[in-house]
Amino acid sequence: MLTKIQETASYLKGKMTTAPETAIILGTGLGSLATEITEKYEIKYEEIPNFPVSTVEGHSGKLIFGKLGNKDVLAMQGRFHYYEGYDMQAVTFPIRVMRELGIKTLFVSNAAGTTNDTFEIGDLMIITDHINFFPEHPLRGKNIPYGPRFPDMSQAYDKGLIEKAKSIAAELKIAVREGVYLGTQGPTFETPAEYKMFKVMGADAVGMSTVPEVIVANHAGIKVFGVSVITDIGVEGKIVEVSHLEVQKAADEAQPKMTTIMRELINRS
Ligand code: HPA
Repeated sequence: MLTKIQETASYLKGKMTTAPETAIILGTGLGSLATEITEKYEIKYEEIPNFPVSTVEGHSGKLIFGKLGNKDVLAMQGRFHYYEGYDMQAVTFPIRVMRELGIKTLFVSNAAGTTNDTFEIGDLMIITDHINFFPEHPLRGKNIPYGPRFPDMSQAYDKGLIEKAKSIAAELKIAVREGVYLGTQGPTFETPAEYKMFKVMGADAVGMSTVPEVIVANHAGIKVFGVSVITDIGVEGKIVEVSHLEVQKAADEAQPKMTTIMRELINRS
């Protein structure tokens, strides 16, 4: 595993003309941040040795290198979801490569349904903590010596970055929520009973990504900041039918707020 990661990193280093310490996963609601990256150069996933291969034809992603403001960044356009059939090693492979490339901080976004009755569609929720509800743990197996066998997770989302993001949001008059993100495998959205269970468990938002990447980033000593865009309501009595299209629409509408907060935070941290 480590050999493969290092092989991939060494291929990328051979192509890289910048030295980013900041990585961004352009999840739902953050896609447009890619257009703000300047002095860009890109590498398609299919050209990168050992990178997971996309399951959707013509839908392969790419790594985008360049500058966001004055910062060198590495952005992943397209992530690998467990529900697509990738195993956890594949889902988190890019994060381990990031560690080999010298990435120190990771910024992530996602779309999520909310179990919190004070949240609304289009809200941004700064992720303060998570619950891992995936059926397979990304660190299962031989420990890669990036970190300990039994990694601490007491501050999976960096408190300093959370505070900075809150003050940026206040300054720019963008309302933000804070809460716990629960990651589950999907691809079904939740039944009302499942939403209720997740609420009882302590979740404010529920989605199908992020948690594996964040666990592996923590193990690799990479600091994390994450935001969920609330795209549907999983609150008893308010649940209506939900489709991917509606999720996408709500995320697109919240995109400018999400992009602003991420851009400013990346620039100032
Ligand atoms: N549940 C799980 N994943 C999601 C949801 C949801 O309600 N909304 C967007 N992604």
